Amino acid sequence: MLSFNLFTAVLVATAVAQSYHDPNGDNSTTLGPNAEGKYEISAKGIRGLFIPYGASITNLFVNDSHGIERDIVLGFDNATHYEVDRFHPHLGGVPGRYANRIKNSSFVIDGTEYHVTPNENNNNDTLHGGPDGWDFRNFTVVAHTKDSITFSIVDPDGKEGFPGEVVSYITYTMSENTWHMKMVAFATTKKTPIMLSSHTYWNLDGFQNNETATALNHTLYMPYSGQRIGTDGILIPNGTILPNEQYGVNDFWSAPKQIGANWTSPDLEGNCGTNCTGYDTCYLVNRAQNGPYDWRTSGPVATLASPWSGIQVDIFTDQEAFQVYSCGGQNGTLPIKSTQGFTDGSRPRVVEQFGCVVMEVEDWIDAINQPEWQRNKKHIFGPGDDPYVLQASYVFSVNPTAAMSPIQQGVR
Ligand SMILES: *[C@@H]1O[C@H](CO)[C@@H](O)[C@H](O)[C@H]1NC(C)=O
Ligand SMILES: *[C@@H]1O[C@H](CO)[C@@H](O)[C@H](O)[C@H]1NC(C)=O
Ligand SMILES: *[C@@H]1O[C@H](CO)[C@@H](O)[C@H](O)[C@H]1NC(C)=O
Ligand SMILES: *[C@@H]1O[C@H](CO)[C@@H](O)[C@H](O)[C@H]1NC(C)=O
Ligand SMILES: *[C@@H]1O[C@H](CO)[C@@H](O)[C@H](O)[C@H]1NC(C)=O
Ligand SMILES: *[C@@H]1O[C@H](CO)[C@@H](O)[C@H](O)[C@H]1NC(C)=O
Ligand SMILES: *[C@@H]1O[C@H](CO)[C@@H](O)[C@H](O)[C@H]1NC(C)=O
Ligand SMILES: *[C@@H]1O[C@H](CO)[C@@H](O)[C@H](O)[C@H]1NC(C)=O
Ligand SMILES: *[C@@H]1O[C@H](CO)[C@@H](O)[C@H](O)[C@H]1NC(C)=O
Ligand SMILES: *[C@@H]1O[C@H](CO)[C@@H](O)[C@H](O)[C@H]1NC(C)=O
Ligand SMILES: *[C@@H]1O[C@H](CO)[C@@H](O)[C@H](O)[C@H]1NC(C)=O
Ligand SMILES: *[C@@H]1O[C@H](CO)[C@@H](O)[C@H](O)[C@H]1NC(C)=O
Repeated sequence: MLSFNLFTAVLVATAVAQSYHDPNGDNSTTLGPNAEGKYEISAKGIRGLFIPYGASITNLFVNDSHGIERDIVLGFDNATHYEVDRFHPHLGGVPGRYANRIKNSSFVIDGTEYHVTPNENNNNDTLHGGPDGWDFRNFTVVAHTKDSITFSIVDPDGKEGFPGEVVSYITYTMSENTWHMKMVAFATTKKTPIMLSSHTYWNLDGFQNNETATALNHTLYMPYSGQRIGTDGILIPNGTILPNEQYGVNDFWSAPKQIGANWTSPDLEGNCGTNCTGYDTCYLVNRAQNGPYDWRTSGPVATLASPWSGIQVDIFTDQEAFQVYSCGGQNGTLPIKSTQGFTDGSRPRVVEQFGCVVMEVEDWIDAINQPEWQRNKKHIFGPGDDPYVLQASYVFSVNPTAAMSPIQQGVR
């Protein structure tokens, strides 16, 4: 069983890598990191930089409606700094082997209770795979071409308390105006929970909106998300599925809405845990009721757009939940990059509270502790099972902005 699955893992990984290889028939092979230790991939209209640490995205450049290039994700300038700053809030990485929170840091598989290493809320729960989760570890670069990079990790049996070894491959690819991700993971020795995501922080103005340091003016639309997972004061699911009533603070499905639209509503207090105003919420993505769908063509599960830069991202994914975090935990201490913000001293070069928004494609959080949701097949993987797979495409476009002149409109 073990060798069969390792063999399958290698085969599939090779296939994943090969399917993206050599798009121009020039047999381009490993390109390697730049002087800052980052790996660049690009296509028309988009350029991204990545590092092995957490298989993280560090920079994502797209042009805005004025043709000005903006770096629209959070990260550090210095690739080496990620490992030094152990308090970084999972910047752009892949949380694993189990994203989001595990209640009481425990779960049961086939009658056996497992305990994983707690790392949040005075050790009441495990967040993003524990204190040494995947986004605190170096992945291996197994392929790098000018438009694609594949990272791998081998997560040993017993690491952070999780049962069995997991072997995973993360592939990021650029095509015109689009960032694609494909994550595959194999449980090679024992049944174990697996749930991955991309923990990317967005500010579609590149922190260069001269009228606001926040992302509260960004418009969010989640047309399939009429429901969300109910959580307690420390954001642990309590088993309930809640309605996002139309016109309520969690209604992003009936129409696009600015993230800050309901900021003064009392309903928003405590909406992201005790004493937290805003969003840190797992929205369900309900699509099957309309018949069979192809995630690539049936419309985005979410659209985020900034009226200031005009930059819009449409997120297509095969995942059935979508976490939104409005960066209430930021307090002006995390630095922005040299490619972001203002250099004239007009504003501190840091992320202000609500200065960003995290959007995570994923499955229903902590489903391993909610057996009545009956989602074990999407959360528990063992030797011989189909692999865990996550796919998503982030498609960028620009909308006209009020300040744009006809000449500037001609830029793209
Ligand atoms: C690419 O590699 C293949 C297999 O080694 C070879 O047949 C082909 O001629 C190469 N193409 C170029 C453009 O070098
Ligand atoms: C933005 O536009 C400039 C000028 O056309 C171009 O050189 C640059 O490559 C564009 N940026 C991206 C990320 O495509
Ligand atoms: C990058 O960060 C590391 C660790 O903090 C530090 O030792 C190094 O000097 C930094 N390099 C630059 C160019 O800032
Ligand atoms: C939480 O886990 C501990 C062991 O780590 C166990 O003793 C306790 O019963 C668990 N509590 C709940 C509510 O499941
Ligand atoms: C965490 O657990 C401890 C006891 O183990 C308890 O006192 C505390 O209230 C719990 N909750 C939080 C949010 O720390
Ligand atoms: C991770 O990679 C960095 C950069 O290559 C290196 O400095 C560091 O020692 C590596 N850390 C581990 C734990 O292997
Ligand atoms: C922001 O920049 C625009 C364009 O340069 C300018 O018209 C506007 O007055 C500026 N707003 C502030 C608050 O500085
Ligand atoms: C933010 O949105 C509000 C309307 O909700 C608008 O009045 C304001 O001008 C916008 N500010 C920016 C900087 O886009
Ligand atoms: C679960 O949490 C939600 C959201 O806080 C709350 O409305 C609901 O009453 C809770 N239900 C239970 C059974 O604890
Ligand atoms: C939330 O904002 C929307 C858009 O402005 C509005 O229609 C709705 O009534 C608001 N809901 C609450 C509860 O404030
Ligand atoms: C929430 O805020 C209240 C009032 O400021 C405070 O008394 C309480 O300790 C806070 N609770 C938590 C868990 O931070
Ligand atoms: C700001 O947040 C960081 C990271 O969570 C924390 O270490 C620091 O103590 C906070 N600072 C203030 C002033 O709250």
